[in-house]
Amino acid sequence: MLASRRILLGITGGIAAYKTTFLTRLLIKAGAEVRIVMTESAGHFVSPLTLATLSRHEVLSDFVREEEGATDWNNHVELGLWADLMLIAPATANTLSKMASGTCDNLLLACYMSAKCPVFFAPAMDLDMYDHPATRKAIETLQGYGHHLIPAGTGELASGLHGEGRMAEPEDIVAHLEAYLRSHAPWAGKKVLITAGPTHEPIDPVRFIGNHSSGKMGFELAREAARQGAEVTLVTGPTHLQIDQPQVSCIRVTTAREMLEKAEQAFDRADVFIGAAAVADYRPREAAPEKIKKQAGEMKLELVRNPDIIQTLAARKKDQYVVGFALETERETEHALAKLQRKGLDAIVLNSLRQPGAGFGGDTNKVSFIDKNSEITPFELKTKAEVARDILHEIHKRIAH
Ligand code: PMT
Repeated sequence: MLASRRILLGITGGIAAYKTTFLTRLLIKAGAEVRIVMTESAGHFVSPLTLATLSRHEVLSDFVREEEGATDWNNHVELGLWADLMLIAPATANTLSKMASGTCDNLLLACYMSAKCPVFFAPAMDLDMYDHPATRKAIETLQGYGHHLIPAGTGELASGLHGEGRMAEPEDIVAHLEAYLRSHAPWAGKKVLITAGPTHEPIDPVRFIGNHSSGKMGFELAREAARQGAEVTLVTGPTHLQIDQPQVSCIRVTTAREMLEKAEQAFDRADVFIGAAAVADYRPREAAPEKIKKQAGEMKLELVRNPDIIQTLAARKKDQYVVGFALETERETEHALAKLQRKGLDAIVLNSLRQPGAGFGGDTNKVSFIDKNSEITPFELKTKAEVARDILHEIHKRIAH
């Protein structure tokens, strides 16, 4: 759930700040991008250098920084808006009270007040401070603002006393964030079936008819749908790509007929089917059992039509939203619309081989999303991961209604 999430971690000055090294490591390991702002006093408990090394970004504490004589401005508004999620851990009594009252006398608080994303806070302090009515009131006020409390635990405290006030353990904080993201994911509860990659149609045991599809587009769609909470079945033709998200069940096939068989099995349970595979339209009538030997003169291969997977499944759809891809080389929109209608699709994603950086193999694509009402949404050239996000967003808008 945390993969590619932008997390702004605010560290304030308490002994629990030492745990933020582990916390940062866990967030990075989970695939998050982490930026850190810390108060001046937090720097007495944990080294900015350690945190910068772990987060792979400079750690910020001041509004202004001086670099080789030039004065630079740490833009708290930009940082606040950059974040998908802000986490303040540990949150001391002092910072909680300032957050509640809107006091803004350091970079961390300015980032907090600029953030539009969900805010989480993990208090840490001695038991009497935690129990103080002022702290309780600050926590209630922050919850009233819609922020999320990650409650302090009970145990031995740095003062030697025993009681409530220990910052939640890094693993618990991460679990808290993940549970939140899972329950708020736009695709939570949805089942998505995706086909990806080429198909290989055997000529003999060593040769086949195939194409240049790498599977990247379909795999990015599967990754992104899973990241956004969907349960994904990915039926892929031959590719070296791997996927290891638990919400993705990856089924590997070779031929178009195998792809159809596996897609058919998952289709009835699916809410959405996206056909990103480049399926061979024809296959050799028969695959030779032994390697075909070179002979003098020409050789003819007899080809027969493969089933059209997306057309077959669209014909039996109930409530499923079915999205095809069209890879075109000329009169792109016209051909894509004709395909959408002929195959009975709800939408089609057009990518053109004439656009540099689009189509097969590479890490980028340039697509237009065309729905059955002929509404065309063009996108810029982007990474396939970003393209996947755009496509899912377009689908989600339409199925949400
Ligand atoms: O895998 P990459 O290297 O990342 O490249 C991505 C891609 C270019 C392969 C992908 O973005 C794409 O455009 N896939 C569809 C390419 C294609 O073969 O289009 P088509 O016009 O032949 O087919 C149209 C639609 O019908 C597609 O959704 C296709 O999956 C589907 N189809 C086609 C033939 C067939 N027998 N069965 C099908 O389901």
